[in-house]
Amino acid sequence: MRPPAAWARIPPDPALPPERREWHANWPHKDYVELAAEEAAASSAHLRVRESLHQWRLDYLAEDTELVTAELVTNAVTATRKIAWELGRPPVRLWTVGSRQAVVILVWDACAERPRLGAPGLEEESGRGLVLVDALAEWGHYQAASAFGGKVTWAQVPKPRTTIEANS
Ligand SMILES: Nc1ncnc2c1ncn2[C@@H]1O[C@H](COP(=O)(O)OP(=O)(O)OP(=O)(O)O)[C@@H](O)[C@H]1O
Ligand SMILES: [Mg+2]
Repeated sequence: MRPPAAWARIPPDPALPPERREWHANWPHKDYVELAAEEAAASSAHLRVRESLHQWRLDYLAEDTELVTAELVTNAVTATRKIAWELGRPPVRLWTVGSRQAVVILVWDACAERPRLGAPGLEEESGRGLVLVDALAEWGHYQAASAFGGKVTWAQVPKPRTTIEANS
């Protein structure tokens, strides 16, 4: 019997927004892991992504992708732990999808609250995670399919370069 294709082990995608369907349809590399919403999740995620990028020969994207992953997973864990779940605390889910020159990280959590990019002052100690993500990646978030509930926060590395208009 033939072994299943790699994607067969990946759970249904977290309702990708219509304009991003190509991530799952066309990008050859995929990885999925479910993480307990514990403090250790960010470092597990970070190591997992490093390993995937190495296998996919995308090591040159690893540093930025690992930072972005750690921020998004930390936020997902923090949001999940803030809620008193009646039926036990849900996990955090991490998909990594790679093409030949880019990586998308998708982090699902069960919370309805959305990420908010802040503008932290010099004195503020928090509110910097998404500022870092925004510097390194194109990112966004969307409501997950009803079977999942919650939302997905995604980030694509490298961030596409913004074109600087001549004479602007
Ligand atoms: N997955 C998420 N679920 C719910 N709210 C989120 C999520 N991610 C971010 N947020 C909201 O967006 C805010 C900004 O996130 P950001 O990562 O920039 O800062 P922070 O997590 O508060 O602090 P820091 O990352 O600097 O430790 C958070 O304080 C939180 O209110
Ligand atoms: Mg944060």
